Amino acid sequence: MSHADLVVVANRLPVDRDDEGGWRPSPGGLVAALEPVMRHADGAWVGWPGQPDLHVDEFDFSGMHLVPVGLSEHEVADYYEGFSNGTIWPLYHDVIAAPRYRRDWWNAYVEVNQRFADAAARAAAPNATVWVQDYQLQLVPQLVRAQRPDVTIGYFHHIPFPAYGLFSQLPWRRQVLEGLLGADVIGFQRTADASNFARAVHRQLRYETRASGIRVRNEDGTQRLALAKAFPISIDAAAYVELAQRDDIRRRAAEIRAELGNPEKIFLGVDRLDYTKGIRHRMEAIGELFDEGRLSVERATLVQVASPSRERVDAYAQLRDEIEQVVGRINGTHDTMEHTAIRYLHQAFPREEMVALYLAADVMLVTALRDGMNLVAKEYVASRTDNQGVLVLSEFAGAADELSTAIRVNPHDIEGMKDAIMDAVEMPPTEQRKRMRKLRHRVQEHDVVAWSRGFLTALARSRKANAS
Ligand code: G6P
Repeated sequence: MSHADLVVVANRLPVDRDDEGGWRPSPGGLVAALEPVMRHADGAWVGWPGQPDLHVDEFDFSGMHLVPVGLSEHEVADYYEGFSNGTIWPLYHDVIAAPRYRRDWWNAYVEVNQRFADAAARAAAPNATVWVQDYQLQLVPQLVRAQRPDVTIGYFHHIPFPAYGLFSQLPWRRQVLEGLLGADVIGFQRTADASNFARAVHRQLRYETRASGIRVRNEDGTQRLALAKAFPISIDAAAYVELAQRDDIRRRAAEIRAELGNPEKIFLGVDRLDYTKGIRHRMEAIGELFDEGRLSVERATLVQVASPSRERVDAYAQLRDEIEQVVGRINGTHDTMEHTAIRYLHQAFPREEMVALYLAADVMLVTALRDGMNLVAKEYVASRTDNQGVLVLSEFAGAADELSTAIRVNPHDIEGMKDAIMDAVEMPPTEQRKRMRKLRHRVQEHDVVAWSRGFLTALARSRKANAS
């Protein structure tokens, strides 16, 4: 099969295996964004089916051609858990956890990136567009270009790109930069990420970097321009609005409030259980507000959904222990027979239940220490069709660049965060409405369809510019 005009390459396929050995769509927002374009362009999606040693043939699903890339148990350990999530993830999130630089992990990363690139090169029609996603596949743009100079290549980086002082720790920094520069357009969440990347390229490779692009030297001595720019990702806002207006989901929201004992204020945190999310900092702040009597469990409760993630990686297992200890300590001190300080759920929920939770929550706490974008913040906003609710948002989340009427916090500043939480508790409904309207306007105008259109338009332009 080699006739797809658009090939998306991502670590994961947009489907999960169900219990009967069939496939169901996975909940990610990227699929929703790309499905319409993919159908139109005879699209193919290259990705890992999510389980070790699962080798399946290519198949069609919901108007897309899916190309599974199998990973052995050992590759899952070294490429996915190792280099992707034990080296790059902590390094790119400002070393919140210590990155490990292991040569065997790097070797597996190179090998697996080559396999993804080969699959993409096979799937692409002549002059097709190949769109590579995220940090697990940073070498793929260059590896595809080496085989298929006819195709246009885009890369989108969903996580932060760190400052040069940190990035330069990476023993394979040049290879990674060269891998990414195989793309015609390299997209980032924030302008600051794009600048960090351009600076790293300038320092390491001495390429000329300008607003119009980075002047890349091809192997044959010719030159081309690669564009590094911010394209902040978004969500399928209309889908959240639709769910938020459904009677059964509104009833469920009321039921959640009742089940929690109808407290005056419900705080909500929704995260993958990840050390970048600032879950412990948020709990410390809430815990101290209870300690000081500024909040009481009769009147307020925090619901924390922490969905299981990357559980075999050490830092994640450690984090879980730490968080559960904090929850135990705070609840042990403050709970009564009827009320709880923190309702902690180490579980994943369907989107319907998430929207009911968003509707039930008076205050949404997004306190990431570092986050590429944070789509939960956007989901909360999109769901609040009643224009009520307060978003407390970390300045270290990409979403802070766009969601300017949220209450902004520095999650490292516990006192500041406590005051911000109390401001949220005390905010009058008129002020909530004023702020929420602006937030909603931004998310609805700039949804995920606008995002993918913006990126693909820039990609088409860059191809034209380089051809002329
Ligand atoms: C982040 C990354 C994605 C990744 C997701 C879930 O959002 O940017 O690339 O797919 O986390 O993590 P997982 O390791 O389960 O794919």
